[in-house]
Amino acid sequence: MPVLLSELVVFHYFSSMRTTLPFSSFDRLISFPLLFISFATLLATLFLGCRPNVPTYTAQKSEIYSTAAIAGPHPLATEVGEMILKKGGNAIDAAVAVQFAMAVCYPRAGNLGGGGFLVYRAADGDTRTLDYREKAPAAASRDMYLDDEGEVISDLSTLGHLAVGVPGTVAGIEAMFKEYGSLPWPELIEPAIQLARNGYRISQSEADRLNGFQEYFAQMNEQSPWMGDTFLVDQVIVQTELAATLVRIQENGSQGFYQGETARLITKEMEENGGLITAQDLKNYTATWRDPVTANYDNYRIISMPPSSSGGVALTQLLGMVEPYALDSLGFQSAATAQLMVEAERRAYADRAEYLGDSDFYPVPIGKLTDEAYLSERMADFSPDSAGTSADITAGAGLRKESFETTHISIIDSLGNAVSITTTLNGNFGSKVIVDGAGFFLNNEMDDFSAKPGVPNMFGLVGAEANAIAPGKRMLSSMTPTIVEKDGELFMVLGAPGGSTIITAVFQTFLNVAEFGMSLDEAVNAPRFHHQWLPDEIMVEPDALGEQVKATLAAKGYRFRDVGRMAVVKALQVLPDGRLHAVGDGRNPDDDVAGY
Ligand code: GLY
Repeated sequence: MPVLLSELVVFHYFSSMRTTLPFSSFDRLISFPLLFISFATLLATLFLGCRPNVPTYTAQKSEIYSTAAIAGPHPLATEVGEMILKKGGNAIDAAVAVQFAMAVCYPRAGNLGGGGFLVYRAADGDTRTLDYREKAPAAASRDMYLDDEGEVISDLSTLGHLAVGVPGTVAGIEAMFKEYGSLPWPELIEPAIQLARNGYRISQSEADRLNGFQEYFAQMNEQSPWMGDTFLVDQVIVQTELAATLVRIQENGSQGFYQGETARLITKEMEENGGLITAQDLKNYTATWRDPVTANYDNYRIISMPPSSSGGVALTQLLGMVEPYALDSLGFQSAATAQLMVEAERRAYADRAEYLGDSDFYPVPIGKLTDEAYLSERMADFSPDSAGTSADITAGAGLRKESFETTHISIIDSLGNAVSITTTLNGNFGSKVIVDGAGFFLNNEMDDFSAKPGVPNMFGLVGAEANAIAPGKRMLSSMTPTIVEKDGELFMVLGAPGGSTIITAVFQTFLNVAEFGMSLDEAVNAPRFHHQWLPDEIMVEPDALGEQVKATLAAKGYRFRDVGRMAVVKALQVLPDGRLHAVGDGRNPDDDVAGY
């Protein structure tokens, strides 16, 4: 640690000055070179952006706690959550503080300028969900991403100001706090303000990520702490403008974001760059409480997110379609199990494309889609002898290279209240637009709408009328924050970032525990596969499905595509003795757990 070294040397020099004055010539001989070296080291480390008062951290992936636990995407954020839980805050207090902290130290997905979903289960078993997904601005229109020939204009819904939906995060955080929070609001935001003001050290994976996106940041912005030549591990990032924005939220609640100075800065950013969001759009934004979608699977009850996310409905469908089969006897990732799961996924994602959208705007047939008889009928044409086929629709070049960036936190407090939150800017750093003067990234969530029926978005997902763009409508999500009960008691809290692969990651992680008897860290870290109807291929992580299994499935007509990694699960499990197993995913070097 160069900073510590230089601090020690300087300290040694000044303390020796106090005790040994007047210097002997030998002291001078030793001390002046030491002083020179120490100041040189200090200057060098300051030049690299390192500061003595900024804490270091390491990520911990799996731990068992006796009382309360949190799993999240970054050690500084989980540390904030642990601190709030230890000082008597409940799971919602911790969730509020962690979300603000993530907006500072996890900018690729933590956010003020995005949106998210909460699934909450109180200790008494009561369950609710909160939808704080972004909305299309009032000036948005169905064909806004199409050219004169009716073709989708590349990048318009992913990069820059037109890609931005009206942010929901701050309204959502305030709504959950007002309903369930117990500590003072300013106390929950203070740790994030300190992180922004004092700075924090970036990890290697963050440095890599930042370096990879500089070209886009430069296209969209003039200046930001996130812009520079080359970011290095341990470099300290100070975010003065973001700290000021957080103070406005600390003092005025969500009005500190949707009105006043922050709103002025957002609308100025929009007006000057061809964006659509107005002061009225911001003022009109509200988060919405909804009943969860629930599924029964053996002696488990799965509680998940209804539309505007497709996550809960699709997860319910997947579980309903595979439940009649004895997966445990078929075996983990055997050809038979993989084929069954892939065929269920094909059907669930086909339904997603046709029927799922914002239920405030479109009559999503949730009851029908999750009905046992419907799901059984859906699998009636399943044949273990050959691959099913997806409809023959041109799906473009498939998934874009941009990785899936969203993020998730799972929290259980000392009383047994459980929080499962997935939140996002959509792509890495969202639209890449940073609100000038306010210091935060804006989402590119408009890409989650179906810009044109049958044309895939950045996750290769297609959609139709249900997910067409309309003013004030929420774009369809795949986020699947989920809570699981076993025999009526809290059992698991889980969710993940990962775009379209979130749903199948939650599906597989649950089955790994419930059917294949894995411990939670085995279940989270097991390699995964994914099928989403279109493109008609099985995406496989390294080591997922063995070569023999792939050969068997290929002979039946399945096609494969290798991917480096898919969704990144963060999960908690209540063990039989009541202790809490917290697990972060090895797929993200910064995933971390904390608790006590
Ligand atoms: N933006 C990714 C999702 O909501 O599914």
